[in-house]
Amino acid sequence: MSCHNFSYINMENFMEIRFQNLGWENWKAGIMLAFSCEGADMLAENPELDKACPWLAVAPALRDFKGKTGELCLLHGHPDLAIPRVLAIGLGSREELTPAALRAATGAAMQKCASLGIESVLLPEPFLSRLPGGPERLVEECVCSALLSLYKFTELKTASADNTTSPQWLAIGFNGDTVPDGGQSAARRGELSAWAVCLARDLDNLPGNRLYPEALAMRADRLAGEYGFSCRVMDENALDEAGMGCILSVGRGSVHPPRLVVLEHAPAGHEQEKPIILVGKGITFDSGGICIKPAAKMDQMKCDMSGAAAVLSVICASARENTPRRVIGIMACAENMPDGRAYRPGDVLDCANGETVEVVNTDAEGRLVLCDALAWAQKNWTPAAIIDIATLTGACAIALGSELGGLFCDDDELAGRIMACGKATGNNFWRLPLWKGYEDQLKSNVADIRNTGAREGGAITAALFLRHFIRKGELWAHLDIAGVDWNAKNDALCPEGASGFGVRPLLDLVRGGLS
Ligand code: BES
Ligand code: MN
Ligand code: ZN
Repeated sequence: MSCHNFSYINMENFMEIRFQNLGWENWKAGIMLAFSCEGADMLAENPELDKACPWLAVAPALRDFKGKTGELCLLHGHPDLAIPRVLAIGLGSREELTPAALRAATGAAMQKCASLGIESVLLPEPFLSRLPGGPERLVEECVCSALLSLYKFTELKTASADNTTSPQWLAIGFNGDTVPDGGQSAARRGELSAWAVCLARDLDNLPGNRLYPEALAMRADRLAGEYGFSCRVMDENALDEAGMGCILSVGRGSVHPPRLVVLEHAPAGHEQEKPIILVGKGITFDSGGICIKPAAKMDQMKCDMSGAAAVLSVICASARENTPRRVIGIMACAENMPDGRAYRPGDVLDCANGETVEVVNTDAEGRLVLCDALAWAQKNWTPAAIIDIATLTGACAIALGSELGGLFCDDDELAGRIMACGKATGNNFWRLPLWKGYEDQLKSNVADIRNTGAREGGAITAALFLRHFIRKGELWAHLDIAGVDWNAKNDALCPEGASGFGVRPLLDLVRGGLS
């Protein structure tokens, strides 16, 4: 079988992150970014500016710069100078400054630099250290946002249609004689986070004819070889032996058979630790199956594997930085298609936990691949926590819109941690209830459980369906990313298309070493 030519993330196309610490007078770059809050005296507050770019004090255009949110002011010095340009970036009111505003400002500034064809950018760390929010975290966020803002999905273009050259490097400039370790590792964390998000975006943006379960499994396997984590691919026979009748049924209508991909990052000394288990929905295309979806926006269902892509990206990043935490990733991959062999409404399926599931709607396929994966995971390991991530329900997108993922969790502490990781990384979650009163909607007359409830509260009944397969006492959270996995229009951190939502908070959670 062929695996299409791919370049998951072309590290050559990924802007290099450098450091400068030679003292302000010696800094060099095509442009320097200068952040400023509204009403602030940028020159007075940042004495380094005058040393790096003495001409700024007399630059006429700076007098009109107010520092309002979204304001960009390009200033030119003599072209032969070590730093011939400065881009002043408004952050709005200092009191209301959020990491989200800094991320958006950084992204917009980098996109401006790219559109000007500037090859190198300097970001002075002292500017960040004067902002509220902790300097290291802000370095991490700026580096990550700068890289995310330049993301383009180019894998399927034979010749680059637009020939704007992105900056080749971004240097973080530090005061003093050395680059502090903290600042350096913060920048590296931001860089790796962005790389992981871009990897997920690349996978998500690939269409169903190029990324089907075997192809996704093959990419996971190659990444495992490259970055040093383990990868086991379960084919139809292995799935059958493991009793995973649900995932097999969902994939039956497709010419591309389903796969369960099991990834593990077990750093030395942590091999016996209870793992964090991440489970991702990997529907490489969701037509709805026999309960076929309407045509409008059906193309976006190529992203129905973004939960699985997030899991793969998090494991890749953990392996690359050798995060001191054992993590297992499970990607439940299938293509949901209508066909003579497809599973049908009314069918009763066998789940890996030994129970039976009645299919009411073949478009509620995500929970079916997940229930097998969740049941099987608990058979094989004693997890520290299980977190699943899935583009599970249109109802969640309707409830929370395009900026918030849904979080379902019975444990306040775990929920709090996930919320905090979401907030810190700009992928916010909103907690929704696992409402007991709706459990009856999943009662089946013929099987142990049915796969849908009423239309109303659909995100909740989907979560309740998943919880049914979680053993009592197990720490578990469910993230519904339907709606947030797809970015509807170009913005400062992402072009139209896959967003990579969920990668950063999960990576942060793993880095935080959930005990
Ligand atoms: N993949 C969809 C959910 C989805 C919808 C993701 C919109 C992203 C954007 C999922 O498999 C699905 O079809 N869910 C159904 C469930 C219903 C049949 C109970 C839905 O939400 O309509
Ligand atoms: Mn569906
Ligand atoms: Zn789906």
